[in-house]
Amino acid sequence: MEQTEMQKPQNLEDLIQILHQIFANDKIDVDEVQTLLESYQSDPREWLKYAKFDQYRYTRNLVDEGNGKFNLMILCWGEGHGSSVHDHAGSHCFLKMLQGQLKETLFNWPEAEKKELTKKNEAILQEYQCTYISDSIGLHRVENVSHTEVAVSLHLYSPPFDSCSCFDQRTGHKKKVRVTFSSKYGEKVPLAKAVSQENN
Ligand code: SIN
Repeated sequence: MEQTEMQKPQNLEDLIQILHQIFANDKIDVDEVQTLLESYQSDPREWLKYAKFDQYRYTRNLVDEGNGKFNLMILCWGEGHGSSVHDHAGSHCFLKMLQGQLKETLFNWPEAEKKELTKKNEAILQEYQCTYISDSIGLHRVENVSHTEVAVSLHLYSPPFDSCSCFDQRTGHKKKVRVTFSSKYGEKVPLAKAVSQENN
């Protein structure tokens, strides 16, 4: 819908509503979604109820199920927390910074078994920035490299997935991993069910 392309979300609720409109269309315009997410001026009061931290690992907190078209979630990264190197199970992945900074390292897909993954790029994602990755771009690892500041990011995956592949950086060895949520709609999920694919 042309009308939605120009909209600037006033708050998180508004952003979710616009995303529902965009994803009602089966064809996704990556630039449109990225521009929309970037234009969201995040106010912590809107997302604080989803931001549930864990002492040991980053957490995944479901915000909206996007009518089955996408999952919108908030990831909370304590100091030094990071993901493994992973793919995105054929989905689009949008990552928008809400607070702090994260380091994103891009890797090429493994060329052969038992060979170290090759790095494609490294970037520090700044507050409010939105980046995009899909399997055609490569693999990535996301880390909060700060020892003093936490980070919070908003992720949109379309279509939603509940497992992806993780890779050993030194050998390229691939392992299928289930991804789950620490909380849903602001309510904690019992511990046994909550898994992230953290690397530490
Ligand atoms: C990401 O892929 O951007 C972060 C990892 C995750 O979703 O658990």
